[in-house]
Amino acid sequence: MVRKDLLDLASLERQEVEEILDQAIPFKDLFQRSVKKVPALKGKTVLMLFYEPSTRTLSSFEVAAKRLSADVTVFDVPHSSVVKGESVKDTIDTLQAMQADYIVVRHQMPGLPGRIARMTGASVVSAGDGAHAHPTQGLLDAFTLREIYPESGKKVLIVGDIRHSRVARSTSTVFRKLGYEVAFLGPGSLVPDVPGIKRFTSFDEAWRWNPDVVYLLRVQKERQGAQYYPSVGEYHKLYGVTEERFRLIADEGKWVMHPGPVNRGVELCDAVMDYERTLINRQVENGIAVRMAVLYLLKPKLARMES
Ligand code: CP
Repeated sequence: MVRKDLLDLASLERQEVEEILDQAIPFKDLFQRSVKKVPALKGKTVLMLFYEPSTRTLSSFEVAAKRLSADVTVFDVPHSSVVKGESVKDTIDTLQAMQADYIVVRHQMPGLPGRIARMTGASVVSAGDGAHAHPTQGLLDAFTLREIYPESGKKVLIVGDIRHSRVARSTSTVFRKLGYEVAFLGPGSLVPDVPGIKRFTSFDEAWRWNPDVVYLLRVQKERQGAQYYPSVGEYHKLYGVTEERFRLIADEGKWVMHPGPVNRGVELCDAVMDYERTLINRQVENGIAVRMAVLYLLKPKLARMES
């Protein structure tokens, strides 16, 4: 792969996606060893710049970079001069002086990682920008799906707030690129029309489509400017995996995915978390291997003297 940055998945060729997923396999194998580290990025610096909260993505990138032997700095936005009004540009200019090789950025503004990428020779990876993209989430989802279904053509039903979801955008894009079939289910106001993607507004109707995997999105109250459904209780009743729907899922051996963090009692009932075909923890584990592959394959364009 000859890319400097990873900003979305729409612009990646299928072959580039496969190269990242293939590279993640030996990195995942490494997790079984007592020493889980390789020297691939020794001497390189990874800067983490998260303007929005994160548990999985932030810690996963940190672990991934450290397993590649990179030095990692987590820029502590809430305790930085950002709260004194420093602009993103000034922050980046300041951080440039630290000569990071990789910048991993999460921001509420769509397109901001791309702007930063144009300002720096460092490789920039989007860790989520507004409702635009969350490319490494899409890649780790694809890696997980490929582990259970190496053959393409399987059907994935993505359920929830598609409109506000960068996960839905990146994950559906990469699933389709790899030849899986995707459908959306959710309240009409939250499910956009996308050519080539089936659109359902009722669970029963979506169930008749016979999906192999049910991918539940987190209800993102923080990204909605308006109320799109009467209450979370009502959402659970209409679109969540209730106890009754869970029995259906378990009886038919469907797989369940969710990017996290989970709102229990909203997207799913408690029983789903203990179901042997719920892939949530495997998605997190795979996220480290996939992020190692991304950092390993990107090519920063920094003019430096190599020692
Ligand atoms: N899936 C995901 O992006 O989770 P975090 O917000 O915890 O990083």
